[in-house]
Amino acid sequence: MTTLRLGIAALLAAAIFTTLPAAAGPEKVAFPVGYQTDFVIFERIDRDDRKIVRFMYVNRDALQAAKAGQPGATQGTVLVMEDHKVRLNGEEPVRDANGRLVPTDELGIVFVMEKQAGWGSEYGEALRNGEWEYAMFRANGERIDRPTTGCLECHKGQEAVDYTFTYSGFLFSR
Ligand code: HEC
Repeated sequence: MTTLRLGIAALLAAAIFTTLPAAAGPEKVAFPVGYQTDFVIFERIDRDDRKIVRFMYVNRDALQAAKAGQPGATQGTVLVMEDHKVRLNGEEPVRDANGRLVPTDELGIVFVMEKQAGWGSEYGEALRNGEWEYAMFRANGERIDRPTTGCLECHKGQEAVDYTFTYSGFLFSR
């Protein structure tokens, strides 16, 4: 009987959750299916300290708007930071002819930040990153269910350049 009641409670909870409008948080950000072919790689960052190479992607429309001189990221901008493990020789990273790390196809976390009209309004000023929301995924698109407060806190320091790090050059270089 208890099991049945719990089952009903779970069903009700699920029904309530699916009918509520999405609250602030990572669930608003969907995995950008097909980003590896549809988006543009705009930056590569070698992180010796973490033995990873990061590729940064942006959706084409957003990049076009940025290049056309639109200040700040347009609504609908999706930025992806894709971590690749590097080739190792024992514990030591292998280097190419230019002394750079060699990314493998083995992906770590896929970080996504997305800007949409009206997003972020639920946050207090101390945390709010304009209209950006953040999320983490595995390479297969599975969501990593962790709070994104840390993302907001750290990127908040980049407020003057629309909360971006490597992408800021495209937004504010002109
Ligand atoms: C401690 C600070 C810090 C935290 C926490 C952090 N980031 Fe970042 N983020 C950075 C830095 C610095 C870069 C530039 C890349 C680098 O130096 O490795 C970056 C780059 C990015 C980029 C590429 C766009 C750009 O402008 O460079 C995305 C997307 C991103 N972060 C998403 C996230 C998400 C999602 C989270 C939370 C899960 C997160 N970040 C947490 C500091 C942080």
